[in-house]
Amino acid sequence: MASRYHEVYADWKRDPEAFWAEAAEAIDWYRRWDRIFDPREDVYGRWFVGASCNTCYNAVDRHVTGGRADQLALVHDSAYTGKVTRYTYAELMREVVATASALWNQGIRKGNRVIIYMPMVPEAAIAMLACARLGAIHSVVFGGFAARELATRIDDATPKVIISASCGLEPSRVVSYKPLLDAAIELATHKPDACLILQRDELRCELIPGRDVDLGDQVARERAAGAWVDCVRVAATDPLYVLYTSGTTGQPKGVVRDNGGHMVMLKWSMENEFGIKPGEVFWAASDVGWVVGHSYIVYAPLLHGCTTVMFEGKPVGTPDAGTFWRVIADHGVVSLFTAPTAFRAIKGQDPQGLLVPNYDFSKFRALFLAGERADPETIKWAERHLKVPVIDHWWQTETGAPITQNPIGLGPLPVKYGSPGVPMPGYDIRVLDDAGHELTAGALGNVVLRLPLPPGCLPTLWKADKRFRQSYLDEFPGYYKTADAGLIDEDGYLLVMARTDDIINVAGHRLSTGAMEEVLAEHPDVAECAVIGIADAMKGQVPLGLVVLNAGAVREDGAVEREAVVLVRERIGPVAAFKTVVTIKRLPKTRSGKILRGTMQKIADKEEWKMPATIDDPAILDEIKAALNARGIGV
Ligand code: COA
Ligand code: AMP
Repeated sequence: MASRYHEVYADWKRDPEAFWAEAAEAIDWYRRWDRIFDPREDVYGRWFVGASCNTCYNAVDRHVTGGRADQLALVHDSAYTGKVTRYTYAELMREVVATASALWNQGIRKGNRVIIYMPMVPEAAIAMLACARLGAIHSVVFGGFAARELATRIDDATPKVIISASCGLEPSRVVSYKPLLDAAIELATHKPDACLILQRDELRCELIPGRDVDLGDQVARERAAGAWVDCVRVAATDPLYVLYTSGTTGQPKGVVRDNGGHMVMLKWSMENEFGIKPGEVFWAASDVGWVVGHSYIVYAPLLHGCTTVMFEGKPVGTPDAGTFWRVIADHGVVSLFTAPTAFRAIKGQDPQGLLVPNYDFSKFRALFLAGERADPETIKWAERHLKVPVIDHWWQTETGAPITQNPIGLGPLPVKYGSPGVPMPGYDIRVLDDAGHELTAGALGNVVLRLPLPPGCLPTLWKADKRFRQSYLDEFPGYYKTADAGLIDEDGYLLVMARTDDIINVAGHRLSTGAMEEVLAEHPDVAECAVIGIADAMKGQVPLGLVVLNAGAVREDGAVEREAVVLVRERIGPVAAFKTVVTIKRLPKTRSGKILRGTMQKIADKEEWKMPATIDDPAILDEIKAALNARGIGV
């Protein structure tokens, strides 16, 4: 089938407001908008100004009344417990209403913040929807973050209530969440009024009288009482959620998502970009703590009337590299969305794809990969073994949906390995040099998006308009800076090569090296440090710490290195995958004092590198190479 992409993209470009007004017809509004886009509102303008709506109503209630009451809405599959829990849309509504009622009893009202710090349990998605129902703003914090990261988010979002669980499950251990939660509340200046705790059978926890409440008991009581809570009308421009993502410092950025534009964009993307029909089974193998989990585990599939699969497990080791295929077969999945790292992990354990033929792929149509660069080898491996199109697409927490893709819903375009596709409607992508001049096709530069951003993208950062402007808008006036470097080829395909800031991508997780440096600098024996991302065959990148010890620091061999690893795990969390620290004598710097992180990364990755003309002392790079080589890095 010929792709409609070029025609649809041209339609958008001709009249963006008419384009999104038409897309907005797929959403139920309590009140329609006064203006589709108002450039005078807030930092760069707002979408659907004057409209009112409710995201939970569109994701749940309207399907119950619209003929999908008995269709599966959510299937939770835990590879750890072996349990599968299924909710029809009617059952999901019952649980969401009961949870919303429990939150209401805790005083949660429109605009209040609720932090959700949970593992991959259905109650996490239900809690998100319950907040949306009440017009409360949820902020989900990924379970792999440590207490201090959670505390930073508590202080920024100032939640009235925190919803958490007694434990999470990882292949090698049961992660006790409660001590992390308690420590975070202790560390934070802001204190929540209450914590609603889900007690899981695998490890129950003590509840603190007067503060902690058993979530399961509360929900059961509201359910039994037949409690009802209406969907609260919110402005299309009101925040649905705040999701923190790594910035270049230890202070994460609170990405704000609104209600109206978000629904319009996600609903449009399901059909036109992902090619999914209502009623089909969609699976995003991510975590609700990440943007992929927000958009494509919870909101988009439900807004579209699909069945969404929520998987608690890993692509390998739970129990083997055939788990993903089992989930696809057991639940009739039509499309899987995950990060390339998951496929590299599977390929590493089952290189011949021997486990694939054991499972029924008859309903399976496409694999979507995002979160990091999809290397052509991995894409080809997946194509060969799964025999479906493999679609790389590029986006960010800030956009909430793909910026570029091969939009198979509009008809597939030719695949170019190494490229995450072409701009989606809403995005006018340019590549600029550092002075802001537009570059021609094929030239590498800063990838920027012409303002305004489309519906669903962040309007600002939580209570930080100034930081939003500084981080994204000031450097290239009129554009949003993605902080990715790349190029657009002569056919209009984008290639994303690297970040232009200190963010690294570890197993599809976005992490700040600056935040890790702040932690290392806290070690009493560390005088100076740098953290760089080095290549890793499975995770794409992993962090490497380089430390210079204080003069006079006399410590047994490797002690500071071991302590530094523990410190980062304690402060940031296991998700940082911070396992290696190398002690060096001096850090290489430019004459103006800038640490040459890029050059050290090239040495560690055995890439070609040139001696920077501005280096303070060229001999330092030889020292670094020797220190890394001695540890088997860059050999
Ligand atoms: N709660 C507590 N700890 C967690 C956690 C959670 N929710 N999620 C991860 N961790 C821990 C892990 O146990 C691990 O700890 P360890 O150092 O003690 O082993 C550490 O954080 C790193 O976890 P992870 O990134 O999952 O690495 P892994 O080595 O366990 O598994 C992959 C590697 C590739 C299998 C895994 O990263 C994966 O499945 N990725 C899929 C992609 C994905 O989800 N991307 C998100 C964006 S789409
Ligand atoms: P996150 O906000 O966690 O989704 O991370 C966004 C960043 O991940 C982007 O800015 C890119 O650096 C990287 N990224 C995401 N998807 C892709 C992709 N398909 N190809 C290359 N890089 C990607």
